[in-house]
Amino acid sequence: MTPPSAGPSEPSAESVDGPTAPEPVAPLLDVRGLRYRYPGASTDALAGLDLSVAAGEFVAVVGANGSGKSTLARLLGGLERPAGASTAVACSHDLLSEDGRMAARRDVGVLFQNPENQLVAECVEDDVAFGLENLAWAPEAIRARVDEMLERFWLTELKTREPHLLSGGQKQRTALAGVLAVPRRALVLDEPTAMLDPAGRDEVLEAVRGLRAGGLAVLYVTQEMDEVVGADRVVALEAGTVVYTGSVGGLFGDGALVRRLGLGLPAAGELALELAAVGREFAPLPLTLDEMLVALGGSS
Ligand SMILES: Nc1ncnc2c1ncn2[C@@H]1O[C@H](COP(=O)(O)OP(=O)(O)OP(=O)(O)O)[C@@H](O)[C@H]1O
Ligand SMILES: [Mg+2]
Repeated sequence: MTPPSAGPSEPSAESVDGPTAPEPVAPLLDVRGLRYRYPGASTDALAGLDLSVAAGEFVAVVGANGSGKSTLARLLGGLERPAGASTAVACSHDLLSEDGRMAARRDVGVLFQNPENQLVAECVEDDVAFGLENLAWAPEAIRARVDEMLERFWLTELKTREPHLLSGGQKQRTALAGVLAVPRRALVLDEPTAMLDPAGRDEVLEAVRGLRAGGLAVLYVTQEMDEVVGADRVVALEAGTVVYTGSVGGLFGDGALVRRLGLGLPAAGELALELAAVGREFAPLPLTLDEMLVALGGSS
């Protein structure tokens, strides 16, 4: 699996943020002591959560089922009202106020795991145009932006297709193109590959690559540890709070924490543990097959 990473051949910042996007001020996502409780629930889904994500940063979020990842995604996107926080800011908008949440919905794109729930139009290009039409963009501007997004996410050939006839990966790319058609400053992806087969997953990961290159703050929620590798930073949630924030190697190198959180390791790390059990130790733990090959080559 290819992790998200920036690279020289990736699309330019302008194709994501638009040529007139203002210079972003870091951090774009900033919450302190964020709390949220679902109606009727007896415990907080978010129980005093601290997190900040800077412009251009790609932060992975991991945690067991029920740890609060999707709730965090919805709150950062301005889709729910926080129960409280000392700071709750998304793209300079105060998430504690109704007006701030409305403005955050415009600046923070959110992509969920099920593409079916996010596709609304009769054909791919109308779907990509949907958000811009709601913002009352001029028809020529919509046409140009939609064409740019179709090309960026390899959808041009599919633009007249009905979304429900697409593959899972194509559907999720259509949903992503629609989210990013509206110029965004931050993007929250909630397990966008979870419902896809390996080919669809690779398509979406490829599309997600380079998003951070344009100054977009990206929060990438995943249960796939291979997708964490390549992130600038990883944040681990437990019971609605952050219990780890730091490097990817730092998290996976802490075996006790990984076990406690029930996370597992990237495939190369799992393989390294199996080799360690038969006497071949690796330090540091390799997180990719390339790192493992280098470690093996260096020792032979
Ligand atoms: N609509 C809801 N009503 C009541 N409680 C909810 C609702 N949605 C989530 N919860 C609860 O809030 C907590 C956090 O849930 P959340 O969906 O944010 O976790 P998650 O980390 O995204 O889990 P998963 O890995 O399963 O997607 C859990 O205890 C969950 O049971
Ligand atoms: Mg979830």
